[in-house]
Amino acid sequence: MKIISVADKNEMSGRAASIISQLVRRKNDAVIGLATGGTPEGTYSKLVEDRQKNHTSYSKIRTVNLDEYVGIPRDDPNSYHTYMENHLFKFVDLPAGQHFLPDGNALSLSEECRGYDQMIEELGGVDLQLLGIGRNGHIGFNEPGTPFDIGTHTVELTDSTRRANARFFGSIDAVPSQAITMGICTIMKSRSILLIVSGENKAEAMSRLLNTEKTDTDFPASVLISHPDVTVIADAEALARTKKKAGKF
Ligand code: PGA
Repeated sequence: MKIISVADKNEMSGRAASIISQLVRRKNDAVIGLATGGTPEGTYSKLVEDRQKNHTSYSKIRTVNLDEYVGIPRDDPNSYHTYMENHLFKFVDLPAGQHFLPDGNALSLSEECRGYDQMIEELGGVDLQLLGIGRNGHIGFNEPGTPFDIGTHTVELTDSTRRANARFFGSIDAVPSQAITMGICTIMKSRSILLIVSGENKAEAMSRLLNTEKTDTDFPASVLISHPDVTVIADAEALARTKKKAGKF
């Protein structure tokens, strides 16, 4: 795991965006796994700035998002479809048929999940998966206790995740109780992973991750230590409780 320690969220966003835009320029038909939430907002703004300044083209890129809520309309202001439109898709030349999110309103959620993994395989697999981390160590919506060997599936969101996301919905009661998420097995098949972490509310999770010596389903992010190509970009607040290890970061 390569750790890049940066001063703040702005620098984290800039570094992450530059890794993504370099990939887009190097491999113009790359498959990029995208994430939502508070952490990647700045990364997407920097990608939009780069698009405006350098005209980086996304015309052949394909994107697959990690997750989507179950049971809220696709055009709900809080759906991840809407989030992606508003933060990235409407500002870049990525054709509508080339960005994919799970359909949280599918008639059969289990078929939707199976089909999502199959679609990722048909695209040739993910070149780079962007990830955030939850305070409880979740990645995507893979909450503690999720087995590491399952693909895309439907999850019941934990109270702590619903509380954390209530800030977007106005109240915890409005936060859906289920979501579809890429499974840990799906995430681990990505050829590379970029984990971005900012803020002191993630300091405990970061300390736990960077001191992890063996994987543990109680702390889903621990699986990342067994992936061959993971880059973590974390800011000073997120690293505040992690003791600097000589040579590590
Ligand atoms: P956040 O969520 O970026 O909104 O903090 C990250 C996550 O829960 O994976």
